[in-house]
Amino acid sequence: MADYEDIRRRLGESGQDHLLRWWSELDEAQQAHLLSQLAHVDLELIRRLWTQAAEAGTKAQVQWERLEPAPVRRLAQSFEEWEQEQEEAEIGEAALRAGQLAVLLVAGGQGTRLGHPGPKGTFPIGPISQRTLFQIHAEKVLALSRRYEVPIPLCIMTSPENDGPTRDFFQVHNGFGLDPAQIHFFVQGTMPAVDAATGKLLLADKHCLALSPNGHGGVVEALVQSGLADYLEGRGIRQVFYFQVDNPLVKVADPLFLGQHLQAGAEMSLKVLPKASPEERLGVVVRQGGILRVIEYSDLPPELASKRRPEGELELWAGSIAIHVFDLSFLKRLAEASSLPYHFARKVVPFVDEAGNLVRPEQANAIKFERFVFDALPLARKALIVETDRRQEFEPLKNAEGENSPATVRQALSDLYAEWLRSAGVHVPRRPDGSSLHAIEVSPLFALDAEELRAKVEDLEEVSGPLLLQ
Ligand code: UTP
Repeated sequence: MADYEDIRRRLGESGQDHLLRWWSELDEAQQAHLLSQLAHVDLELIRRLWTQAAEAGTKAQVQWERLEPAPVRRLAQSFEEWEQEQEEAEIGEAALRAGQLAVLLVAGGQGTRLGHPGPKGTFPIGPISQRTLFQIHAEKVLALSRRYEVPIPLCIMTSPENDGPTRDFFQVHNGFGLDPAQIHFFVQGTMPAVDAATGKLLLADKHCLALSPNGHGGVVEALVQSGLADYLEGRGIRQVFYFQVDNPLVKVADPLFLGQHLQAGAEMSLKVLPKASPEERLGVVVRQGGILRVIEYSDLPPELASKRRPEGELELWAGSIAIHVFDLSFLKRLAEASSLPYHFARKVVPFVDEAGNLVRPEQANAIKFERFVFDALPLARKALIVETDRRQEFEPLKNAEGENSPATVRQALSDLYAEWLRSAGVHVPRRPDGSSLHAIEVSPLFALDAEELRAKVEDLEEVSGPLLLQ
């Protein structure tokens, strides 16, 4: 308990001494736990952030002048553009074959909206097989490793809360066929929640702070502080393909995207697509005074979000779908400078009150602090933004019902595989709205894309019921 006096003094100086209120009631293990949590909290940072949030409100402070759409490489329209893409894809494939790319999956979120017990990656989403999100992602990495004859590292960011269950899940499933040496778990940092009115840190229990993961932007420091960035660099990794656990449509390690990133000499690249509506919960990529940045959907005033061009397209149309390529050296530079800002969100956070009772507030009582990975964009010396097609790449699992729910994600997967089959000349019945009538699923180990599938379904003429290819 050598730290106790020091911590007590620091807490006293910052008006946080209530955190030791129950100290004498705690057993030794609980005391040690609380002390170790407190030792990791930067009280000065918390005070500064809470003051900012209290003064400015939880919305990001954005100057709305001179905001313009970001320059985006649009989908190929001409034969020349298509040819250029072939060349770029070859550059990406060469980099993959050379073992230059690692895959980085962020899976440390709490998945509150989905409400699935356990890490979100363990959610069964395959339209027929009930493959989990983790299985789909891991099988893509396995299939790519076979295709490019190189063990592509799969780095998975977890949180302190879901790290154990995530590792167990991979172990029980034998890493979904990946070599254990290919899979690297690392744990992201946490931030304490504070009482919105007073800035005081909240206790989740008498011996526990109310902590939550520090946002997907926590990946930058966690990757470096865990030693994984250096390890990867030592193994010849130069670029990292970043994606989020909730989108099973993602083209993991997309060679075209990687080739475009390399060809552009970018430090960070992003995929975007036209927002379906002004309200769609995607950050928009904009340029302001020559600087590129992503504005979170909740920060963008509705009148700006809904502004349209004469042709009808949204003025700020480019929604970021959280698919990136980063230069590893750029991530290391960002981590050294601890450069990503914190965002504030008002949330309901249960806490232990002065009488020692656990209170579950009905309304937001606390402020949580999170970093967002897309805040790296303005810090990149060069960045590339490319458009992609929603149907081919994006339907995230966010909610239990309604939009971005298991039903829409399974349908989007069936629709994607139906398109692949159609392009191979197979008749696949549609509903009046164009969606696939039947559930269809293609294992990543059967085919990773339409081209690979074509060679394997030569004898198939028609889909007449649910179809699972694996
Ligand atoms: P979301 O912002 O959608 O959060 O995360 P979530 O945790 O999945 O769901 P809600 O908001 O609680 O309902 C987008 C991606 O970023 C990861 C998530 O795991 C998901 O892949 N993430 C988010 C982290 O890895 N760490 C975080 O602290 C937050």
